[in-house]
Amino acid sequence: MKNSTDVIASFQRAGQGQVFAFFDQLAPDAQRRLIEEAAEIDLAEIERLHRTLVTGHGATGLDLTDLAPAPYEPRPEHGGDPAAWAQAKAAGEAALRAGRVAAFTVAGGQGTRLGYDGPKGTFPVTPIHGKPLFQVFAEKIRAAGVRYGRPLHWFIMTSHANHAATEAFFAGQGYFGLDRGRVHFFRQGRMPAVDFNGKILLESKEAIALSPDGHGGSLRALDRSGALDRMAAEGIDTLSYFQVDNPLVRCIDPAFIGWHVQRKSEMSSKVVLKAYAEEKVGHFCVQRGRRLVIEYSDLPMAQQRETDATGRLRYIGGSIAVHILDRDFVRRMARAPVGQDQASGPAMPFHRADKKIPTIDRNGAEVKPAKANGVKFEMFVFDALPFARHPVLIETLRQDDFSPVKNAEGLDSPQTCRDDQRRQFARWLQANGAEVETDATGLPAAKIEVSPLFGYDEDSFADAWKKLSPTPPVRDGLDLA
Ligand code: UD1
Repeated sequence: MKNSTDVIASFQRAGQGQVFAFFDQLAPDAQRRLIEEAAEIDLAEIERLHRTLVTGHGATGLDLTDLAPAPYEPRPEHGGDPAAWAQAKAAGEAALRAGRVAAFTVAGGQGTRLGYDGPKGTFPVTPIHGKPLFQVFAEKIRAAGVRYGRPLHWFIMTSHANHAATEAFFAGQGYFGLDRGRVHFFRQGRMPAVDFNGKILLESKEAIALSPDGHGGSLRALDRSGALDRMAAEGIDTLSYFQVDNPLVRCIDPAFIGWHVQRKSEMSSKVVLKAYAEEKVGHFCVQRGRRLVIEYSDLPMAQQRETDATGRLRYIGGSIAVHILDRDFVRRMARAPVGQDQASGPAMPFHRADKKIPTIDRNGAEVKPAKANGVKFEMFVFDALPFARHPVLIETLRQDDFSPVKNAEGLDSPQTCRDDQRRQFARWLQANGAEVETDATGLPAAKIEVSPLFGYDEDSFADAWKKLSPTPPVRDGLDLA
């Protein structure tokens, strides 16, 4: 542990002495914890963020000049070259057989919108068995390891708030049949909240108001936790990145991996065609030759609604937060100075969010603010894209890759996600000659669930289905374990 006198002195020098205003009243244990929290903080970074983001010009410092929609590789269904896609798939399969690929899930978010108490990955999602999100990914990863003859490593980023519960959940479920030595958990970093004068806020007399540093913090966390070293030792150079909220994702997708490795890309992303102008996804753009994602909240609505001569949305490429990352690129980004203006070098920017932050006043009394009283800082992983060499953007079909669980009801809810899984199972069955009654949206009448261990994408499903003799009827429901 760092010497407490030094830590306190450094805070005082930085004008942040208020963090220790109640230090003398604390029990030794609480003092130790507060010093530990304080020692996590990079005071120079906080000072820079205050200067650039809090008192600087413009709310985000985001540069929206010279933007155009980013080009991407269209799917064969939409005019892409089938031979190029087949070649990419073969290259991805070779990388998987060579053990170059690992899965990576960011699972540090709070799941607040869903109103679910507990790590989001433990939320039940499948239509019949209610398997939790983590189990769906675990089974897909396990099945891909079997298919390519190389069990995959899986890195999972947690937060301080859910780390212990996440680890306990996996242990309690026997790691869903994965080799324990190949599942790696690590915590993301935290950032302190500051008031509008740049002063670090206390949550209580003995705790700093700290919160997760955003999924962009995953790059630093991969480096700091030793995950990148482990990857290097295992001969892994390619990370398949996905969010914990999306069970439909092809978390191990040979074609995507193939496009990435063939082009020697440092970061690649999947693009879905936006369903309507106001859809709340990030937008793939190009700006002075560099690829970047602009969030729906940052791209002016007029631009989001722009259409081309054929009436199609111009900014049609939406981000589903599915990426492939090169190991050395992650290391380079993790070690670049952070929080500067993008133009000044390879640095991930922070984003500012004004929040109501529970804190204490000068006398130590609790304050529950009615309006925003401070600022939180977060990094977004897609902000690494402009710094990647040879970035590749490929189109994917929403039905194959994207049905997140974000809200308790309505759009992107457990209901819509279960329905999308059932539609996918029905499509796989129909593609293999099974009779499945569906409505106009492709939703089957019967209850169907396909375990990823049976089939986790159309290829693995087709192979497994062919082996069934006779194939089971679907009419009264189907549960393929
Ligand atoms: C995100 C993307 C958006 C994309 C959409 C697709 C951002 C800002 N926006 O939106 O461009 O179209 O997903 O679904 O990311 N997480 C952490 N640590 C954190 C914060 C988040 O691990 O500190 C993880 C969460 O566990 C989750 C993922 O990141 O897996 C997404 O976080 P969330 O805040 O829910 O993103 P969205 O606003 O839904």
